[in-house]
Amino acid sequence: MPVSKEPPLIACAIGRGAYSCKLIESTKEFIVNVPSKELKPKIYYCGSHSGYQVDKFKETGLTPQPARKVKAPIIDECVAHMECKVKQEIETGDKNLFIGEVIEAYADEALAKGERNVEYAKGDFPRKIYATRFRWVLD
Ligand SMILES: Cc1cc2nc3c(=O)[nH]c(=O)nc-3n(C[C@H](O)[C@H](O)[C@H](O)COP(=O)(O)O)c2cc1C
Repeated sequence: MPVSKEPPLIACAIGRGAYSCKLIESTKEFIVNVPSKELKPKIYYCGSHSGYQVDKFKETGLTPQPARKVKAPIIDECVAHMECKVKQEIETGDKNLFIGEVIEAYADEALAKGERNVEYAKGDFPRKIYATRFRWVLD
């Protein structure tokens, strides 16, 4: 969820037993990849299997591509990507709340121009999520 516009901050709560939690803790970086509706089965697979047990890129056929500013790869098939550096980490109950600063954000041209939508964020996504510093993405 977005928690600040300036600076642009995103928070995510990740279970401490998840592979994602271990990776974010050790690299202090993460990427939020925004999937489109067509990717639902693959995303469901990723959300119900752990990277401790399977290689999700291999199993789903999703494609890792180098990101612009962080070491983690983007998921190429996704329509928008927000590269984040962890600013704060809070241990809650069984999860860690990571607050990341969005240091780079980009989207498919059609999505950025509003010619295409993702089903759960109709209207002016990614305007709603991208802070003013990323306005250039929409031009
Ligand atoms: C739609 C969806 C959303 C999810 N959101 C979260 C979340 O916000 N935090 C979390 O800890 N797990 C969430 N999960 C569950 C994790 O994706 C799941 O535990 C996964 O196996 C963790 O994989 P990993 O061990 O490779 O990190 C979600 C699952 C689905 C299907």
